[in-house]
Amino acid sequence: MTFHETKPTILVARQIFPEGIARLAEFAHVDYHDQALAMSAAELAHRLQGIDGALVTGSERVDSQALAHAQQLKIVSNIAVGYNNFDISALTQKAIMATNTPDVLTETTADMGFMLLMAAARRLAESEHWLRAGQWKNWSLDGMLGVDVHHSKIGIFGMGRIGQAIAKRARAFAMEVVYHNRTRLDPMLETEYQASYVSKEELLRTADHVVLVMPYTPENHHYIDTKELLMMKKTATLVNIARGGIVNDEALAIALENRTIFAAGLDVYEGEPKLNSKLLGVPNVVLAPHIGSATKSTRLAMMHLAIDNLIAGLSNQKPANLINPEVFSLRS
Ligand code: GLV
Repeated sequence: MTFHETKPTILVARQIFPEGIARLAEFAHVDYHDQALAMSAAELAHRLQGIDGALVTGSERVDSQALAHAQQLKIVSNIAVGYNNFDISALTQKAIMATNTPDVLTETTADMGFMLLMAAARRLAESEHWLRAGQWKNWSLDGMLGVDVHHSKIGIFGMGRIGQAIAKRARAFAMEVVYHNRTRLDPMLETEYQASYVSKEELLRTADHVVLVMPYTPENHHYIDTKELLMMKKTATLVNIARGGIVNDEALAIALENRTIFAAGLDVYEGEPKLNSKLLGVPNVVLAPHIGSATKSTRLAMMHLAIDNLIAGLSNQKPANLINPEVFSLRS
């Protein structure tokens, strides 16, 4: 048997960088969906038939419908750290490994979160639109007044890798750091970031800037809704770099319109790339198109890590970022 005949078959479900395809072609037969748009659920299910490994992004939903004909599939590798697009129990039931890309995007995504916080607090997007619209006639003492970032209190929901990287940035701005998490941090880490663990309600009531950076699960759907927005200070900002669906975007748009809170910075939306049209109409929100990890070096690193995971899984090695390790034990 020649080496060629033993090559696995891989589906690449979205356009990736050419060097990724070149790497994969050395190792496998590649079925490449060379498109910017995600394929439909039905097409994904169809294309997974006869495939050994798949490289996908957060836009492809991998659930029992997608896996219906995937008899040969051993591994699905996500080019994203978040994996709410995976039905992990459906994958595990079929003994399919699932992997993601943590670590390589931590600092870049933390930069994005901090940027949105600053832009919202200092009204950057609103000021720029105003300037471009030719409305800047004179400097004025009370023009475009924002709220301070330095020496304020930041509240972080989700104190994982990215949350901790944001806390580090906050400390450099002399901010007080409070956080809420499913599990409390090790006391050594709390000391390192001078971060205090508080309840959800205390965080919402006391923080000047609230940052959401937790994974999206069915339990935290609309974790921030009207009730929570009403608990926040009128001068507070809200940043969502986690996932659409954690915030009720309709409730947020109304809160921004009514100035229940001061401003928001968003990178993710319910139903993206579509977004609640009310958000487009309010000036006190900075809107980014899900670009938290979007630098060339980070996106390249994510792609290569996802390929490493895929190749490991198809070579009977344990992928570094295996989400469901019980499947590997079953398979090995
Ligand atoms: C992006 O949102 C990711 O989860 O990597």
